[in-house]
Amino acid sequence: MKDKLIAQHYESGKLLENILKGLEASGKDVHHLKVGDLAPVDEFHIRGRESTVEVANLAGFSAGERVLDVGCGLGGSARYLASEWGVVVSGIDLTTEFVEVGQQLNELVGMGDSVELQVASALELPFEDEVFDVVWTEHVQMNIEDKSRFYSELARVLRPGGRLVFHDIFMGEGGAVVFPVPWANDDSISFLIGVDEVRSLIETIGFECLARKDQSDESNKWFLRMLKNLDESGPRPFGLHLLLGEGARQKFGNIQLNLAEGRICAVQGVFKKI
Ligand SMILES: C[S@@+](CC[C@H](N)C(=O)[O-])C[C@H]1O[C@@H](n2cnc3c(N)ncnc32)[C@H](O)[C@@H]1O
Repeated sequence: MKDKLIAQHYESGKLLENILKGLEASGKDVHHLKVGDLAPVDEFHIRGRESTVEVANLAGFSAGERVLDVGCGLGGSARYLASEWGVVVSGIDLTTEFVEVGQQLNELVGMGDSVELQVASALELPFEDEVFDVVWTEHVQMNIEDKSRFYSELARVLRPGGRLVFHDIFMGEGGAVVFPVPWANDDSISFLIGVDEVRSLIETIGFECLARKDQSDESNKWFLRMLKNLDESGPRPFGLHLLLGEGARQKFGNIQLNLAEGRICAVQGVFKKI
């Protein structure tokens, strides 16, 4: 199991402090924050809040539905879904620091009672069978070698007719991934497979595809804009680089390169459990 290596990869030990400093430096009053104020940092995936809104619209939700965010990170998408769609969200993540900081961010925006985050592995979810209407996951399975166990575990906690919703990075046809990237410094914790392979695995487990959208071009453009801003003006006080540390510029640059050369692709999907 690579759990320890994965958590070590994401942990910095001073994330909350850096987030609070970044918020203040960008002119936010930390005692009067809105959920959206945190989006530059708490949406740790390609195209940030923009893609979360797109995927949520692709999936559609009814108020009161029970949603599990698997590999929730700091809980940005969980807070967005709960506040904008009125769903009840639980989140789990392997990285203790992310969960603890996520819980503090919940408190800061007054969502301590509506979004519950806990430390757990996606491969051993601490929930009974068939208790969720939706399982949501963004940019997590790249770190998981046993894809069959991952998607089977998601299926287990989903009720029949429930939806599996993802926004993820898959292997492209352009050759091996250039490291380091935000999810791994080398291939010891990076396990990409092709999107068609994932689709057939998910269908074999017992889902049917409702929607699938390849957003690789949009993602590449987004990174080109981000890198241009970064190189012209330097990092903003409050942005994803706070999660990536000193190698942030190289990791962003490599994701863009991997997208541009078709080494990876970014795909959104909605599947229904049969
Ligand atoms: C790139 S971050 C994405 C976080 C969040 N989904 C988001 O989009 O903001 C990847 C996350 O996956 C989590 N992760 C990786 N492997 C995991 C596993 N086996 N179980 C639970 N979480 C895992 C990491 O701890 C990290 O928080």
